Amino acid sequence: MKKFNVCIVGGGSTYTLGFLKSFVRLKEEFPLSKLVLFDIDAKRQEPIGKYGEIMFAERYPDLEFAYTTDPKTAYENMDFIFMQMRAGGLKMRREDEHIPLSMGLIGQETCGAGGMAYGLRSCVDMIEAIHQIREYSPNAWILNYSNPAAIVAEALRREFPEDKRILNICDQPENVVRSTSRLLGCSWEDLDPVYFGLNHYGWFTHMYDKKTGEDLLPKIREIVKEKGFLPQDAEQRDQSWLDTYGFVQTMLEDFPDYLPNTYDGYYLYPDYKVSHLNPNFTRADEVMAGREARVFKECEEVIKEGKLGDKFHAISDAHAEMMIKVAEAIAYNTNGRFILIVENDGAIANMQKDAMVEVVCELGINGPRPMRVGSIPQFYLGLLVQQVSSEKLLVDAFYEHSYEKALQAFTLNRLINDAKKARKVLDALIEANKGMWPELK
Ligand code: G6P
Ligand code: MN
Repeated sequence: MKKFNVCIVGGGSTYTLGFLKSFVRLKEEFPLSKLVLFDIDAKRQEPIGKYGEIMFAERYPDLEFAYTTDPKTAYENMDFIFMQMRAGGLKMRREDEHIPLSMGLIGQETCGAGGMAYGLRSCVDMIEAIHQIREYSPNAWILNYSNPAAIVAEALRREFPEDKRILNICDQPENVVRSTSRLLGCSWEDLDPVYFGLNHYGWFTHMYDKKTGEDLLPKIREIVKEKGFLPQDAEQRDQSWLDTYGFVQTMLEDFPDYLPNTYDGYYLYPDYKVSHLNPNFTRADEVMAGREARVFKECEEVIKEGKLGDKFHAISDAHAEMMIKVAEAIAYNTNGRFILIVENDGAIANMQKDAMVEVVCELGINGPRPMRVGSIPQFYLGLLVQQVSSEKLLVDAFYEHSYEKALQAFTLNRLINDAKKARKVLDALIEANKGMWPELK
């Protein structure tokens, strides 16, 4: 069986431990020859790298493992590159959330003004990284789940139009499918969803039972009405995520056509969301106090002990597992179904051809084959056209260094929606992102 060479870009991420463990768990079905972590922040990556060395010596002794800040060592001879870059780190995520919220606007990692701020940083860093990757591994598959995925995907579409081995993907649609299976008391793999949208802005039109073909959406609607909605891994979630999932109940009551992605709540109820977010303690603060602290404490303990003990079982990671299954689908040409971000090109019949949309695709060695969803109703079309316009204008602003285009993007974004507010928040974000954004003129 062929063994693969894999690199993780953003090796110092709080998600990396979950990946390292998942590679061990899945070593029979997706065997690795070499695994390299890459990060520009050596200090942050080091404890995670040391943890990896200890764990692999115990559980994957034939794996060649390294962690590095050198692009050549990281990117040479790779089959798959997993990209989980966080441009500006959690420190800037905090700014993205706090600055808009201080003005009464949604401050969120990927939605609204905060998402656009992060988007401009990610365009800069992702494009640079992928050019570097292509120097050393022209044929590696790049599995990108760096955020904000919608904006990043649009920028990569323009920067690398001929490169068919860049795949953009987010775990949230699958998380919603998994959560639905928990409600229904079945395995998530028994469900066959139909989905349309943009990244972090989409809906399930059907949720078929794979065996019988029955559309379970009416049943799901009833159960959610009665019992609410919980993430599949609710026991491991912070309260803010439980609230976000719980809100699916309200959305489904007001808009019963389709099962929403959890992120739709920001766009459909911005006032409510703003009034329930704490401008002094946002999700970034919660992550730093929670997951980040936990991950680095676990590293510290393992390094001190020199062995893993029972820590291997502390995290079961659906996100990592999904990304590895994506790599498998390509490596073994399985044509399995995944919800991916691809150029529309008719998948949503009444949306523009060059929008980066999120739909179900079959995935194999030649990349994704999107499945058509037909025309979508006016309400959803209106929401999505507005958002895709905002995203495209932001990427225009990036390429043209245009303040005017950025102002249009911010004004058009449903979570701002007012030119004066747009200018105010844009100016504050320009200040906070000095040196990380292209200079807008
Ligand atoms: C989901 C989304 C990701 C996002 C993450 C944030 O997984 O699909 O795009 O980055 O949530 O989670 P966090 O726990 O960091 O707030
Ligand atoms: Mn996502």
